[in-house]
Amino acid sequence: MFYIQKIELNQFRCYKKAVFTFSPTKNIIYGDNASGKTSLVEAIHCVGIGKTFKNAKDSDLIHKNNNFMSVGAIVSDAEGETKVLFAYDGKSKQVTKDTKAYKKLSEYLGYFNIVVFSPDDLELIKGAPGERRRFLDVNIAQIDVHYLNSLIRLKKILKERNEYLKTQEILKTKDVLLETLNESLIEQSKIIIKKREDFILELNSLVQTINMQLSLQKEKLEIIYDPNCTPENLQEKARERQNYDFIMHQTTWGPSRDDVTFLINGSNASVYSSQGQIRTASLSVKLALAEMFIRRGNNMIVILDDVLSELDVSRQNEVLKMLDPTKQTFITTTSIEHISQDLLNNSKLIQIRGESYEQINR
Ligand SMILES: Nc1ncnc2c1ncn2[C@@H]1O[C@H](COP(=O)(O)OP(=O)(O)OP(=O)(O)O)[C@@H](O)[C@H]1O
Ligand SMILES: [Mg+2]
Repeated sequence: MFYIQKIELNQFRCYKKAVFTFSPTKNIIYGDNASGKTSLVEAIHCVGIGKTFKNAKDSDLIHKNNNFMSVGAIVSDAEGETKVLFAYDGKSKQVTKDTKAYKKLSEYLGYFNIVVFSPDDLELIKGAPGERRRFLDVNIAQIDVHYLNSLIRLKKILKERNEYLKTQEILKTKDVLLETLNESLIEQSKIIIKKREDFILELNSLVQTINMQLSLQKEKLEIIYDPNCTPENLQEKARERQNYDFIMHQTTWGPSRDDVTFLINGSNASVYSSQGQIRTASLSVKLALAEMFIRRGNNMIVILDDVLSELDVSRQNEVLKMLDPTKQTFITTTSIEHISQDLLNNSKLIQIRGESYEQINR
């Protein structure tokens, strides 16, 4: 079974130095506000994905007034035991797995997948389009290294193209550099659009049943990809938008402008749905994502940051039942009072008190 046995935090968020050991199945991390619960699960996330799940800068992860952080983990996997070390010095990230040092984080990604449930998930439906693109990027990259490589290339080309647009006047003659940039941009965009389309198609096929079940057969949830361009019209858009791009000093078309629409019973959820419906829908999306990772046979862990105690006990049970009980799960909560007795009995309890912590095995 795949699980994280132990983790060591160095200068990570509020921790100067701390070591935690975990249960292969359920771990409940509890403590007061600002005691370091989310920081701990962010560190776990870094071991798998090389960044936080929060919308924060990498530099925010380094303990205040410091210039370096690292997270080390001992992982139990098919090979037996594997050591992973993730380090960041404010400039570059380094990952080592046993003795292998990865030149690029993208080569390491995919060792295991992580599904994170967090209160910010509501933003997936209610927030700005950037939130939804971030969701697509983080999760497709977890299962498809080619997607990540195309995304990295796309961002580089966009940066170069936008800088060029700032320095030039509207062109009347043929511009060779811009044409080359357009060509590369279109090439990567085609790959990204196709992979986003496939991902949403698969996610959508799984999410409907889950949301029906969570909403007691009342709400049909549909996820619709809303691409800014299709692979077929990219060329035309590039031509059509050229003058406008020069005026705006930026690229105004392509996958960096994509969006996703969530429909509940046929209506746009961000406009029409209630808070409860949106919460259920965002839970369903994450559960469907977990199902996608499991179907691929990938190693996977689950993080539930501050979401379980918001649900009544029957909803808690419903959500936990849908998550594979054999997958290692980290649950954070300020209070264990509202957590079902059954779950408490079957979990390792880890109390966080600032930098000191206590572990209770039950
Ligand atoms: N880079 C950093 N250096 C030092 N402290 C930090 C850093 N980043 C965050 N903190 C602090 O770490 C503390 C713990 O934050 P964390 O988000 O882990 O708390 P939490 O236990 O999840 O709280 P809540 O119950 O409110 O969600 C906070 O006081 C936060 O301000
Ligand atoms: Mg928190």
